[in-house]
Amino acid sequence: MCGIVGYTGKKAAAPILINGLKRLEYRGYDSAGLAVTSPDGIFVEKAKGKVSELVNKLAEHGEDSPFHDSSSGIAHTRWATHGPPTTENAHPHASDRIALVHNGIIENYKALKANLVSQGYKFLSQTDTEVLALLVDSYYEGDILQAVTTALKDVEGTYGIACMSQDEPGVLIVARRGSPIVLGVGDGETIVASDASAIIKHTRQAIYLDDNDIAKIQGGDIDIMSLDSGIVSREASEIDWSPDAAEKGGYEHYMLKEIYEQPDAIENTIRGRMDMERGTAMLGGLGLSPRDMADLNRLVIVGCGTSLNAGLVGEFATEDFAGICAEVEQAAEFRYRNPIINSKDLVLAISQSGETADTLAAVREATDKGALVAGLVNVVGSTIARETGRGVYLHAGPEISVASTKAFTCQVATLLMVALKFARSRRMSVVNGRTFVQEIKNLPNLVKQVLAKEQQIAEVAERYVKYEKMFFIGRGYMYPVAMEGALKLKEISYIHAEGYHAAELKHGPIALLEESMPVVALALKGPGKEKTIGNIKECSARDARVLGIITEGDEEAKSEVDDFIEIPECRLHAAVVPATVALQLFAYHVARLRGCAIDQPRNLAKSVTVE
Ligand code: AGP
Repeated sequence: MCGIVGYTGKKAAAPILINGLKRLEYRGYDSAGLAVTSPDGIFVEKAKGKVSELVNKLAEHGEDSPFHDSSSGIAHTRWATHGPPTTENAHPHASDRIALVHNGIIENYKALKANLVSQGYKFLSQTDTEVLALLVDSYYEGDILQAVTTALKDVEGTYGIACMSQDEPGVLIVARRGSPIVLGVGDGETIVASDASAIIKHTRQAIYLDDNDIAKIQGGDIDIMSLDSGIVSREASEIDWSPDAAEKGGYEHYMLKEIYEQPDAIENTIRGRMDMERGTAMLGGLGLSPRDMADLNRLVIVGCGTSLNAGLVGEFATEDFAGICAEVEQAAEFRYRNPIINSKDLVLAISQSGETADTLAAVREATDKGALVAGLVNVVGSTIARETGRGVYLHAGPEISVASTKAFTCQVATLLMVALKFARSRRMSVVNGRTFVQEIKNLPNLVKQVLAKEQQIAEVAERYVKYEKMFFIGRGYMYPVAMEGALKLKEISYIHAEGYHAAELKHGPIALLEESMPVVALALKGPGKEKTIGNIKECSARDARVLGIITEGDEEAKSEVDDFIEIPECRLHAAVVPATVALQLFAYHVARLRGCAIDQPRNLAKSVTVE
């Protein structure tokens, strides 16, 4: 996730900006930069890699350079979304008159860029942010507030920005729509940031901008307006977090923060990719026309861990809705078993990190066997993203906690879009396509409804803390949920949790059932529910306590289980997301109550870059 820091006041800006960026490093980034204003104009320095690289570059400027004595500036850590992590793509982006840093996604940047090019503007980067910076410049006539205000009215998408001009040293313009900006109120000074962790060292008085707010700041003077309604009043509030908590946005663990980020993360994943009119998905990064999609015979999905579990959903949905062969394979198995692959296959490699060794090896094996290979990756510019050369970025933002949560739900949302694209290149009608689009767009809402049940889920979790082993069972689309729920619980609580297809119980595992072996059963309304209820009865008959993940209001299912968590009613391919979020929260609270190291579980790494 990108980070923004700004300063205007009486002190030297650069050290404050650098320290602020360091406080935001936890958010994950791949480049950094800053700009300061002085009577001699705007000075910009940027570096690929860590903030320390930027510090080294600043040190090369003489003591008398504006970098060392300017008292106003802006800074940024970039999490690449448009364009790979390079110095040219790092922020701030600037003309010779203004400089700007940005968090968010400018959806209509291509159209804006074409217009600016027609006006004679030259671009140095591949970013949407540079388009915004030069758009501001194109409206600039000496009043930076007016130029930014006018430019933002042309923008579609999300932004959190800080901007300044050569003619108004000490003046910062900040604005937000969909990406947070907070103002730290000081004595004759103001610290601007994308989250409180960069402010808390200087002041605990914070003003949080609302969407469509824009503010002009100079020293301690702050004037806030709304792009919609003119002057507004925003009261300062007390930041009562510790600096460490601030990095987690006030959450106790990154995992919980990332669980709660899922509605926004899924919004970012689907943003600009849903065409309701034509009832399809727009996945430009795949580089496949409907005709190309129609020519493909099979989808092969490879991944590991959580990504492998998400791949199962992709397999089921693609066969279910597109009517073509689809299969998912553990990446290490795929790379060594000499798979039958040909040029009519699309091999989709799923990887949050884009660096998993086995998945990368599977990409290379599929490539060598002549398949069309694509990546479904979160980290822009990662090895798998680069080696596949085509694919779909998750845009889920950095996932810090080792246990993958928002990556999974964003992977599922993306796989549903891939299935839709395949389906609409075959027998799915535009009407059914629109229904599917609506279901994908509704996923954030379903997640919010489950997040609202956290307290109830925590209470249920308390009843399962004492167990050392547990089954998770499900059928159809609920089978991947059972696998993912079991993985979450085992990796953060160290309980031996096993995911099984519900029909498999009778083929051996049921021998293990007893009072000390509870079962989590995915028994949502839809195909397979009645059979799963039968499995629940088998478990109860052997004294196993059963936690049902059930559809809201399903009294029949409630009567068959010992505990339950209710999920909003929806078709099962969509229900994967809210049901998984319920099990993420369940695992989190069991592990929290067991006092486990939730964000860094023993023996685990966030990215397994070795075989
Ligand atoms: C899931 O919670 C784990 N962190 C792990 O299974 C992970 O999903 C797996 O290592 C694959 O990682 P990737 O998505 O970055 O390739």
